[in-house]
Amino acid sequence: MRVVSGIQPTGNLHLGNYLGAIRQWVAMQDGMGAGDECLFFLADLHALTVSIDPTELASNTIEMAATLLAAGIDPDRSILFNQSRVPAHSELAWILGGTARIGWLNRMTQWKDKAGKNREGASVGLFTYPVLQAADVLAYQATHVPVGDDQKQHLELARDIATKFNTDFGVELFTLPEPFVSTSAPRIMSLRDGSAKMSKSDPSDMSRINLSDSDDEIAAKFRKARTDPDPLPDNAEALGERPEARNLVTIYAALADEPVDSVLGRFAGQGFGRFKPALADLAVATLAPIRDRTAALLADRAAVASALARGAERARDLAAPTLLAAQKAVGL
Ligand code: ADP
Ligand code: NA
Repeated sequence: MRVVSGIQPTGNLHLGNYLGAIRQWVAMQDGMGAGDECLFFLADLHALTVSIDPTELASNTIEMAATLLAAGIDPDRSILFNQSRVPAHSELAWILGGTARIGWLNRMTQWKDKAGKNREGASVGLFTYPVLQAADVLAYQATHVPVGDDQKQHLELARDIATKFNTDFGVELFTLPEPFVSTSAPRIMSLRDGSAKMSKSDPSDMSRINLSDSDDEIAAKFRKARTDPDPLPDNAEALGERPEARNLVTIYAALADEPVDSVLGRFAGQGFGRFKPALADLAVATLAPIRDRTAALLADRAAVASALARGAERARDLAAPTLLAAQKAVGL
């Protein structure tokens, strides 16, 4: 098994990123057997497809790496690196650009969503982003790629590109990566609006728990989270059309690593006046150690950078034979 996954170093990681992505990475790492490999990268090249602040990109990358290390990514067991420090990603992406079709990219819903009505004004990088994503995983012969709903189409595209390349050039070069759908990765909603995803792009800081929030901020955000006046029922189905209540119970269950029904079994009949402080305590117990370890790691940024550099070296070695074979296949 070889797992490859990236996250954009956009800064401001939140509870949704932790429960929906970072915690899954740690679980995958911890579940690896002998001969298996996990590669996790900070997707700084992908970050260039939208407008960025150069000084922030560099510091966000180090800060995010520190958070991943603090959350349990072990740089001796997993390969943790900056995408831009492994040129094979860009070089293979260019080669695959000869294989991918414009019609395929035109059909990507993320492109349509992100470019909106102003397609002519969007960056070329935003359009070709899924080709770089294909290179990200194909360069390492990834067997499994963890994907949320919004990334399934891009993984399908990576498989299409790999298949066409193998066929066009008569090689059996690229492994077709399978989606790795985690059953324990919940979608966390905003604390202010139960129908919107918790997101760093939400203008209201009260809508999300940042991984950098203090204990008091975490408690205050849960205390002020939107809810309804009804007591909690004793099973998930009975939550019915109560998205805010469902979200808070989902967060509790994810943090406790417990089924929603068993959480409700304990809180049935109680109101949010009782539930919210328990939720805040649980969130603080999980997030405070990660926050504090992140701060401790960031006291020595050079050490974090050198962990990333070691990871990049290992990644370059792993990607080298595939890049060479791809170059040879197309006649370079
Ligand atoms: P954001 O939506 O804050 O911009 P990203 O799109 O950068 O976050 O997502 C990074 C990772 O975190 C992805 O794997 C994504 O699926 C996951 N993620 C982001 N927001 C949530 C959420 N609210 N609930 C669960 N997972 C999330
Ligand atoms: Na996003």
